[in-house]
Amino acid sequence: MSKPTLVSGIQPTGKLHIGNYLGALKNFIQLQNDYECYYFIATYHSLTAGHDPKTKRDLIFNVALDYLAAGIDPSKVALFNQADAPECTELAWIFNCLTPIAELERMTQFKDKSAKNAKNINIGLLDYPVLQAADILIYRAEKVPVGEDQVQHVELTRNIARWFNNTYGQYFKQPEPILTKAKRIMSIIDPTKKMSKSYGDNHCIYLTDEPDVILNKIKKAPTGTGTEGTPTHGAANLLMLLEEFGATEEAAIFKKDIKNKTIKYSKLKTVLAKTISNYFADFRKKRKELEKNPDYIWNILKQGAEKARPIAERTMREVKEKIGIL
Ligand code: ADP
Ligand code: TRP
Repeated sequence: MSKPTLVSGIQPTGKLHIGNYLGALKNFIQLQNDYECYYFIATYHSLTAGHDPKTKRDLIFNVALDYLAAGIDPSKVALFNQADAPECTELAWIFNCLTPIAELERMTQFKDKSAKNAKNINIGLLDYPVLQAADILIYRAEKVPVGEDQVQHVELTRNIARWFNNTYGQYFKQPEPILTKAKRIMSIIDPTKKMSKSYGDNHCIYLTDEPDVILNKIKKAPTGTGTEGTPTHGAANLLMLLEEFGATEEAAIFKKDIKNKTIKYSKLKTVLAKTISNYFADFRKKRKELEKNPDYIWNILKQGAEKARPIAERTMREVKEKIGIL
């Protein structure tokens, strides 16, 4: 029996952080054996934020390195650059003609990004979730592993599939998001905000950060214990990370110490920094190796696009037939 299909992407806008890892990439790796996976670098989506043509290729290369060093196996999945499988933009146009503008205007990410960048509210930013729906549906995905912030876009994708089916007859399945337990990781220095590179480097721990950098960032995290012997947001955030990276026994001891008010937060921070550094030690090593061989990386992306394109082309042919333009 053929495996169910799964699709997800990450934008080439900078280094991946532990929020991207715990919320999305970790699932990509775990799920690659059980699904037919299409993982891509969302280059076209990233253009909505404005970009420097001199650095884009480098950003694409770096996300590819992150995917591969973290354990994505190109022999099992199609790993590719969205720009090498451009049929998604064609499907997005067809979806554009079925999607009410008001549905896009109410998207949380659109509202946040346009508030942050009032000088560059381009059509791409508004249309972003329609292209995302095309990415997902062109490969006929059933599942979409993402962090919590992307769930609204997957819901819109389900609506677009429904609008298409209602208009032209049953064709697309309605895909569902897959979330990790840690679906929303908070910033290290401001635990009221989601960890995001758009807030700045000090908010994020990058997968490439060396042990001393990780420790210095964690040292700046706010901590504290409430009067009831409960951890503050900042302290709870650090404990959660400790558990997520596998140090559950240590986390249980620190929790007891917090309750008894005997906790030494400096110790919690050192243990957490060491836990994260060790967790990504192999990643850092593998990434440095892969980085030495750019041709190998670009070749993997090209081969990934070759796997993906026949599926995308077939969907486009069937869609065009269905809507009566072929
Ligand atoms: P950023 O917000 O840092 O720009 P992206 O938008 O490129 O990150 O997100 C790539 C993937 O990582 C998406 O699936 C997204 O939902 C997930 N993700 C991003 N930030 C977090 C976070 N803080 N916690 C959990 N998942 C996250
Ligand atoms: N919008 C996603 C993000 O910001 C990236 C993305 C583009 C994506 N196309 C997708 C994720 C399709 C899942 C499926 O992280």
